[in-house]
Amino acid sequence: MSKYSVMTAEEAVQFIHDDDNVGFSGFTPAGCPKVVSEALARKAEGEHVKGNPFKIGMFTGASTGDSIDGVLARAHAIKFRTPYQSNNDLRNAINSREAPYFDMHLSHLSQNLRYGFLGKVDVAVIEAADITDAGEIIPTCGVGISPTICRLADRIIIELNSKHPKSVRGMHDIYEPADPPQREAIPVYRPSDRVGAPYIKVDPSKIVAVVETQKENEGGKFAPVDEVTAKIGDNVARFLVNEVKAGRVPASFLPVQSGVGNIANAVLGAMGKNRNIPVFEIYTEVIQDAVIDLMKEDRVKFASGCSLTVSNQVMDEIYADLDFFRDKILLRPQEISNHPEVIRRLGLITINTALEADIFGNINSTHVVGTKMMNGIGGSGDFTRNAYLSIFTTPSVAKGTNISAIVPMVSHHDHSEHSVSILITEQGVADLRGTSPTQRAQRIIENCVHPEYRQLLSDYLKLGSGHTPHRLDASLAFHHAFNATKDMHNVDWAKYQ
Ligand code: COA
Repeated sequence: MSKYSVMTAEEAVQFIHDDDNVGFSGFTPAGCPKVVSEALARKAEGEHVKGNPFKIGMFTGASTGDSIDGVLARAHAIKFRTPYQSNNDLRNAINSREAPYFDMHLSHLSQNLRYGFLGKVDVAVIEAADITDAGEIIPTCGVGISPTICRLADRIIIELNSKHPKSVRGMHDIYEPADPPQREAIPVYRPSDRVGAPYIKVDPSKIVAVVETQKENEGGKFAPVDEVTAKIGDNVARFLVNEVKAGRVPASFLPVQSGVGNIANAVLGAMGKNRNIPVFEIYTEVIQDAVIDLMKEDRVKFASGCSLTVSNQVMDEIYADLDFFRDKILLRPQEISNHPEVIRRLGLITINTALEADIFGNINSTHVVGTKMMNGIGGSGDFTRNAYLSIFTTPSVAKGTNISAIVPMVSHHDHSEHSVSILITEQGVADLRGTSPTQRAQRIIENCVHPEYRQLLSDYLKLGSGHTPHRLDASLAFHHAFNATKDMHNVDWAKYQ
């Protein structure tokens, strides 16, 4: 530590200039820097007051906390942003097109940076639990793209956060594949396989500043399980039990990936409660509260992820009992946690949340009524396309019942019918494997659609013709009705007869 220049965040941002591209550590708010980015936003605002330009390009693991995305969006300091976000102020800046945003598969980001597809990385800002004189950086609770931005950046600023104990060393597995044509197989054969180093190794001379902090994670709380999320979770668990009974999933089970948010958290909780599902392992991107609860109950034996995206209370519990968790949790770069090769080899059961699905099994994960960015595709594409069994869950309706989450045609297309095996709502389960478009539509309407929309969607199916019986001029009628009246019920097929 002694060999580095310890300074305040205000002093450290002298190393970040207008038009620089800055990579931030972490994945979700877990492991993200907080004080340097806030100082950076203040610097941008100061420059703007003086009439000077100040905007940066931003590479992150995934979403961040308000102290990166929120403050920089409000400071009008974003030249470019990728690959995922979930902050309201940034979302508004993206949707007003003030902040250009490139929504991309999370597994692609590190390699695309190395390939030079996204420009130079000038600075990396990394939250660390510890750093040695030899340049070994111990990340905190999220790895994201840190190894790659540390290697590519000219300058590294470390945010040394003492909220995270130095004894977290050993919980990370840092591995960066070589670029083609030198790339070799990634030797992960089980979720617990360790293939890299417990630290990120950098040239110490690149570390231009160390900023000390003890700022807490911006870990939100998960919503309590409600009737709808409980039903969805139950439907997923019962479906998987049947798959084991039918011999399509081995009795020893397969590793599970579960997406972000409250529904994903509830689904895992329900799987843990169902004693017909054996003790299982997790190979995922975000490890949420439910996984930690299930570990304590001996229902989950191992979790490999990219971040501990847990509430602050659960974070404290993990750090208070590191001896229990140390050999049960491994945090990897997103390039490995989300790697298609590993996902396909391990045979993952993937469970992600759709914003909208259509009756033919296509999924919109990102755009509200076709035009407004919600968060981004995140890792859902990495996992869905390469899964053993790819499941999508969604409540069948939103905004009361004014929105049907299942529509004739998705208003934005993230995952195609070719990659989606199962659709599950609180209404039931539609198994889409080996079905034609019409069979899929029948199963989805009967099993997944809210009763208030079943007739409307059955009637739509009768309007079209061909292998996929769309009626193109009517295919977005649900969305037109919502835009005009704020209610998708107000569709009138009569004008299309
Ligand atoms: N049309 C318009 N709005 C809709 C909608 C639809 N079909 N379905 C839901 N919404 C609204 C909800 O009403 C809610 O609005 P509010 O915030 O104003 O209340 C909002 O969208 C979020 O819905 P919610 O049901 O709370 O979803 P969520 O928090 O579970 O998130 C996704 C769902 C799809 C946005 C989220 O899972 C996501 O970003 N997925 C993409 C990335 C991903 O899958 N990553 C996982 C890989 S590991």
